[in-house]
Amino acid sequence: MTASSSATALVIGASGGLGQALWQQLKADKTYTDVLAISRRALVQPDPRWFQADATCPEQLAEVARQVGERFGKLDLLINCTGMLHETGLRPEKSLGQLHRQDFLKVMSVNAFAPLVALQTFTPLLRKAAGSSGHGIAVTLSAMVGSISDNRLGGWYSYRMSKAALNMGLRNAAIELDRYVDGPVVVAIHPGTTSTGLSEPFVGKRQNNQKVRSAACSAVHILHVVAGLSREDTGKFLNWDGRELEW
Ligand SMILES: NC(=O)c1ccc[n+]([C@@H]2O[C@H](COP(=O)([O-])OP(=O)(O)OC[C@H]3O[C@@H](n4cnc5c(N)ncnc54)[C@H](OP(=O)(O)O)[C@@H]3O)[C@@H](O)[C@H]2O)c1
Repeated sequence: MTASSSATALVIGASGGLGQALWQQLKADKTYTDVLAISRRALVQPDPRWFQADATCPEQLAEVARQVGERFGKLDLLINCTGMLHETGLRPEKSLGQLHRQDFLKVMSVNAFAPLVALQTFTPLLRKAAGSSGHGIAVTLSAMVGSISDNRLGGWYSYRMSKAALNMGLRNAAIELDRYVDGPVVVAIHPGTTSTGLSEPFVGKRQNNQKVRSAACSAVHILHVVAGLSREDTGKFLNWDGRELEW
């Protein structure tokens, strides 16, 4: 996509490992004139482009969208980095016997519901970005483990199921929004194993593994893929290197 003279990008989950790196990289490469962020965390030094909101709360997202619409008029790029695999007292299941209702619902809410609500909320602004320079782009970070056909290892019930649900939701939204001439490009991207708080308990023992990239490195790869997206790519599940993945 060629950004117009004024182009706005928004990163959701901006204080996470990948979210922070993408936010920094977007600000550094200057394709987008305004780089906005949504996070549950407040910045120590307040920034008018940083919105404090919980991505799982539709009302809070709607208020951010209202302010973004008022101040910027449109949204050219949405990158959603919201996701959870573990937290205190919640670990990914190794077996069916470890599946618990509350943990499952929490993971589904963060990984599957929140990104779809963000897409719902920001679609009107993404549609306003359509014009001679391209279309709005909505990227959601998913995970290869959400691919049903790729699952040969098992385990991680809630995380796998939530990412599979996310993938279906994104594919559905891509089909629906493609019916509009100004509909945004909707894709899921697998960032690859990246050193962040989310992966740390699981890749910590493989520190010398060349397959684990830094968040800064993954951000560069992801933005390279984003820069090459066109309307024909809508509805695709893409790897960090641009390769198309099986749903
Ligand atoms: N790291 C990897 O190896 C890897 C591999 C495959 C896929 N992914 C996916 O990439 C995305 C980013 O992952 P990451 O590694 O950067 O993880 P991370 O460092 O844990 O960041 C995830 C962010 O999601 C938001 N979030 C988490 N729990 C939440 C909750 N309960 N309510 C609301 N928001 C919540 C938070 O954003 P705020 O704190 O800013 O609100 C958090 O910082 C995720 O979707 C993840 O599944 C990561």
